Order: sequence, then structure tokens, then C-alpha cells
Amino acid sequence: RVAGPCVLVLFGVTGDLSRKKLLPAIYDLANRGLLPPGFALVGFARRDWDNQDFRQIAYESVKQHARTPFREDVWRHLSEGMHFVPGEFGDPGAFDALAMAVKELDTTRGTGGNYAFYLSIPPKFFPQVVEQLQRSGLAEHDRTSWRRVVIEKPFGHDLTSAVELNDTVHRVFPEESIFRIDHYLGKETVQNILALRFANTMFEPIWNRSYVDHVQITMAEDIGIGGRAGYYDGIGAARDVIQNHLLQLLALTAMEEPTSFSAEAVRAEKSKILSSVRLPDELGLATARGQYSAGWQGGVKVRGYLEEEGIPPDSRTETYAAIKMEIDNRRWAGVPFYLRTGKRLSRRVTEVAMIFQQAPHLPFSQTDTEELGENALVMRVQPDEGITVRFGSKVPGTSMEIRDVNMDFAYGESFTESSPEAYERLLLDVLIGDPPLFPRQTEVELSWKILDPVTEYWASKPKVEQYKSGGYGPAGADELMARDGRAWRRI
Ligand code: BG6
Repeated sequence: RVAGPCVLVLFGVTGDLSRKKLLPAIYDLANRGLLPPGFALVGFARRDWDNQDFRQIAYESVKQHARTPFREDVWRHLSEGMHFVPGEFGDPGAFDALAMAVKELDTTRGTGGNYAFYLSIPPKFFPQVVEQLQRSGLAEHDRTSWRRVVIEKPFGHDLTSAVELNDTVHRVFPEESIFRIDHYLGKETVQNILALRFANTMFEPIWNRSYVDHVQITMAEDIGIGGRAGYYDGIGAARDVIQNHLLQLLALTAMEEPTSFSAEAVRAEKSKILSSVRLPDELGLATARGQYSAGWQGGVKVRGYLEEEGIPPDSRTETYAAIKMEIDNRRWAGVPFYLRTGKRLSRRVTEVAMIFQQAPHLPFSQTDTEELGENALVMRVQPDEGITVRFGSKVPGTSMEIRDVNMDFAYGESFTESSPEAYERLLLDVLIGDPPLFPRQTEVELSWKILDPVTEYWASKPKVEQYKSGGYGPAGADELMARDGRAWRRI
């Protein structure tokens, strides 16, 4: 799978995402031979740069963040195709200059008249950019060329704003040209959920309410909000990652088998499962949230959320969120899915854990089974990528004592191939025009529909519980599980 000739226009090229992820990913693709000679990258931003400045910044970010070794010849060819167009997002003159620059590249670089526009900019600028792309003729194409637009989350902050945002982009681009990035779907381990379930026979028969007691989906982070106060405050953990990453994990874990791995088939199943998700009636009992307070992390003293730069001292934004969900269908009726995420927790771990029911009968003595827990299948998304199956096993010796053991599959041990970075995979898919890993409008809107009642409920409550940085999250989250006679897996 190699991309064909094209220009990638990166709006917001001076931003953090661009420097840390996108520019290095483009270099890695070039280094792996996945970009054609006729590839060009045009940066657009409100910065007084020229091509040379842009190339220098890109060089530094590649040197610092690329995954593959630096090769002078690859860099030289790539950087010769890098151009910078300065301008405001609503400035017709700047877009005319952009149109001229890309057309020139079609001739000088052989980019074939194909353009992908990556909007790595706050959504409030989308209307202007989309309008200018249309006005300058950049959105138009003939039968032999294509246009694609890539948008980053947040895809709105609730259902109403998501619908508006979609309408804005749809004014110029049809749904099939829109690539929404949820970088979790670019992760190997996330895609492997589908391989595990649908390429094997042994898991699917137990993947249902007859065997599964409940499912825990965890995305724990040890970092705080860093320098992202402007984005994060008022958004919070639920909108930041549950609406997208965690609900996508839920969808892949719970959905039915798609008829094929085509975009339409996968998205149809994901949409079906998302429309079956239901929140319990008592939101006070089925949700928990918290805000990190000062504490210690890895031997370093860290400040609380309210002391972070740019955060108002009375902010009620949650940095931890836990939500219990039910799925109303034949496979999952009565099996709760517990989703949790938080910043400044004890360590970084993302996993999906299926916890199985107890054996209906144990022909062993109570003392022999004291250390027998629940069977579990854990899909370890990161950082220790792999799958663990946890089950009871006889402890060697003369008694029939049984204890839990782990059977592990680790990517590092089983594969010599290295995983591409999520953005690398997704960028390649954009340039090739391969959409299965990109959520479509319906999924985005269904996810907001699930989440909106929770954020509305929280907005009506004045208090957010504090939890210590470096710990396990707010007590309220443990109480949520305890009410159901269950406990979170230790992170
Ligand atoms: C982003 C969120 O989507 O994902 C961040 O906005 C979060 O708040 C990040 O830190 C985590 O990504 P990853 O790939 O490190 O798990």
C-alpha cells in the first residue's frame, strides 16, 4: 500500500500536533518508501515564515520525534517538496496564493492535481477555511483527481455543535471526502480487537452475556494537562476522550461481525452498537468524576488542576470520569460496560478487560480457592501492548490449591515487525483514500447523544471531587463499582 501523487496541505502547521506527530509521521512514511516521488507538503499558518524556515522547523521535529532513522537522501527529497504559505484563515489573498502554490507543484513536482487538506486548527476556524477553499477553487476537482479533508477532534462539544460542525464541512465536501481522525483507531492494538474477535474461533463463543460478567474500559494517564489549559478547561475528560477514544473501543469490543472490512460495513456495525448503548436512569449512581489535586508522581511533586497555568481557580472541569453503560441487545443485555479515564493517575495504561462470570460450581474446598479470582481477557492497548488471559491454575504441590495466573501475548516477543505510529498509519490511509479507520458523522453524533445527558447532569452539580495526583482516582469511582458488588482492576 503506497500513496499516489498528491499535495498534503497542513493548516495549523506551527501547532504542537504538527511538530510532534504529523511532520515526523510524514517523514517516517517517506523513509519507509510509502510516499511517491510526486508528493508535496504545503504548510499554511499565521506565521511570517518562508520555505526555508518551514523546512528547518520540520527538520528539527523530524530529528526529535521521527521513529525511523534519519536518512539524508530521504530528507532531501521530502524537504524539496515542502512549501510554506503564510496567511490568516479568512484571507482570500492568502488562499489565492495557496491555490497558485499547489497548482505549481502539480507541474514541478508531479502531484497529479490531488489535494488533501488537513485542518489541524481549532474548529472555530473551520467555516472560514472551508469557505476559502471553495472560493479559491481549491475544493473543485475533475474526474481524474480527488480532494480530501482531514479534521481533528474535538468534533463539537455536544450533539448540537457536532451537527453544526458537520454541516459546515458538508457545505463544501461530501461525507466520503471527510476523514475524521480518532488516533486510537490508528493504534495496532485497537485494530487487533477486530482480528482477535473475527479471525479466531475460540473467543467469539464466550463473547456475550452468557459468559461475560462485565467489561472495563480504562484509559489512565500519568500526565496532567500540560500546556493545554485553553483547550481542556470547560471540555474535561468525558468530552476529551470518552466521547471518542473510549466509545470507539466499546464499539469495536461489542459490535457484531461486519460483512467485510470495508469502511461501510465496519461503520454500519459500529453505528448499530452505539445506537444500542443506554445510560442507567440514575446518573448520580452510574457516573463519577474528579479533579486532580497536588501530589507526587514518579518522585516529583506535581500541582493540582486548579493551580495549573491558565485554569480559573473555581473551574469545575473534570480530569477524571467514570461512566457505567448498558447495551440493549441480545448479546449484551444486562452486562455493564464501565468506562473510566483520568489524568495524573498512578501510571499510564489503556486496556479493555472482559471479566467473566464465576464458574457455576467449584468442586474444590473454599480454602483451596481463596486466591481464585474472576477469569479475565485483557486487551492491553498500551503501553505494554498485548493480550492477557487470566485464569485459575493449580499451585504446584500436594494440595489442590488454585491461584490466578496470566497467559500473555506480547507484541515485542511475537512480532519482529514494528508498529507504525498511529498518525503514520492514519495519514497513509488518508493519502490512499482508505476510510475504514475513520469515524463517520453518524458515529460522532451517536457518541455525543450518549454523552450529553452525563455532561448536562454534571453541569447541574456544583461539586467536583478532588483526587490526589499519582493515585487511583476519586473515591466516587470506587463507590460506583462497589454499589454493583464489583471493583476496578488495579492500574
Ligand atoms: C488525546 C487527548 O486525544 O489523547 C489527550 O486529547 C490525551 O488529552 C491523548 O492525553 C492520549 O493519547 P495517547 O495516544 O497518548 O493515549
